Amino acid sequence: MKINLSLKYSALIKFFEKENLPTPDIAIILGSGLGDFANRLQSKKVYRTSELPGYPPSTIVGHEGKIHFAEKYGKNILLFQGRIHFYEGYKISECVLPIFLTKKLGCKKIILTNAAGGINPDFTPGDLILANSLNGIFIKEGLAQLIGLSTPENKNFLLSLEENSLTNIIRKASEKTGVELKQGTYIYTKGPSYETPAEIKFFKKFGADAVGMSTVHEAIFASYLGIETAVISCITNYASGISDKKLSHSEVTETAELVKEKFSNLLESVIEHC
Ligand code: HPA
Repeated sequence: MKINLSLKYSALIKFFEKENLPTPDIAIILGSGLGDFANRLQSKKVYRTSELPGYPPSTIVGHEGKIHFAEKYGKNILLFQGRIHFYEGYKISECVLPIFLTKKLGCKKIILTNAAGGINPDFTPGDLILANSLNGIFIKEGLAQLIGLSTPENKNFLLSLEENSLTNIIRKASEKTGVELKQGTYIYTKGPSYETPAEIKFFKKFGADAVGMSTVHEAIFASYLGIETAVISCITNYASGISDKKLSHSEVTETAELVKEKFSNLLESVIEHC
């Protein structure tokens, strides 16, 4: 069975149609603790997601639950301050609502950002990673609701994150700003609890460099809809068992706070050149 998102979110679509907003040049989803970037832009309109018809409310600390229509360097930006997670109890068809909205508003580029645990020994908390591959082994089945994976064509739909004009712009922005970007494979895990050291060992063996509880389904759906997609992870902590330190959500938000300056410099430069 395939869910008709236009039907499911018809009230929300109507709401935004009435708002008559300019077509965004780029959309950005801000991950855990990274919401501060919104302050760098001139927001023309800010919507609390709790006030939008049919929008799933945000339930976690560090996720504001706001959608901004903002401007910078003459570009229109659609900014999701906070995301919808599967571990909050939402369905995949709800988690990908920001992507669906991005498409409905005519936007052709999206940057998905997140906080992630570092598995690769070369990663340290505070590093920024441009994902060059995604591992969505634990989320694939839910996507059938959206893209009808049981049809022969869609069975062939691969989980790839290709180099595109957006990743080129991001690399250039990294050179220009001097904000270093490492690269690696991001693996999705359901959460909501952090992983055990054994799980991380398992992920490492199979080539994962960073682990988080979001993004992969968003990226698959975005590329399915023909939106150019890039994923930037902020390594907020060593993944479980990689160091002796106990994991906590406050460590995630504290590290995100420390990187907000360079993260924002990078994104600003991306906007300038997109
Ligand atoms: N694991 C999963 N998700 C995360 C982590 C982690 O270590 N850090 C931030 N998000």
